[in-house]
Amino acid sequence: MNLMKLLETRRTYRRFDQSRPVSAAAFNDMALALRWSSSAGNLQPLRCVFVTDPQIVEAVFPHTHFAALLPKELGTPKPGEHPTMYVVLTYEKKTKWTDTDAGIALSNLTLAAWGHGVGSCIMDNIDRPDIAEILHIPESVTIHSAVALGYPTHTSQIVEPKTPADLKYFLDAQKNYKVPKRPFSEFIFENRYPEV
Ligand SMILES: Cc1cc2nc3c(=O)[nH]c(=O)nc-3n(C[C@H](O)[C@H](O)[C@H](O)COP(=O)(O)O)c2cc1C
Repeated sequence: MNLMKLLETRRTYRRFDQSRPVSAAAFNDMALALRWSSSAGNLQPLRCVFVTDPQIVEAVFPHTHFAALLPKELGTPKPGEHPTMYVVLTYEKKTKWTDTDAGIALSNLTLAAWGHGVGSCIMDNIDRPDIAEILHIPESVTIHSAVALGYPTHTSQIVEPKTPADLKYFLDAQKNYKVPKRPFSEFIFENRYPEV
């Protein structure tokens, strides 16, 4: 897949084929992509827990909350559709760059996964204390975010917003995701910022 196609199709996926574990090749490339991430001052503050054991993935699952914009029965993966892997990003001391470093790492990670057909959902709506306990993450370490991963069983497509204010993602009749993105005219400005 060329780079622009990869960027266009690397969307958020929330239903997965739970019978299909993430391949070793995808695991290895996700690890490499995280290692290759840029960080301020090359300080590399992040640590990542790769959760692959199906029992531990299932223990983490109820502590990760999907698709706040949809009714629960539509947005939350059902049994058989759960992620088959999580990556949990952590840090010890927060600096003013940690969130930027994490954003770059999340982007690298999810793109590397999608290069292998592994879909992802970056997650902030997670129960950090519960996940920390399950994964034996010490109190001195903070969970930044988690990423749910697996082979998706739905598509997700960028669409034009119906109105400029309506940026809510939605499901079509086949339960595939549609994700409105702002038109260029509303967020890319050439040479000067428009008058407000
Ligand atoms: C920082 C961040 C946190 C997010 N947290 C969640 C989450 O907790 N649960 C969820 O289902 N999706 C979460 N998402 C996914 C967003 O809802 C998704 O990126 C957005 O709807 C746009 O869809 P797209 O990723 O396909 O462009 C998160 C995304 C980002 C970047």
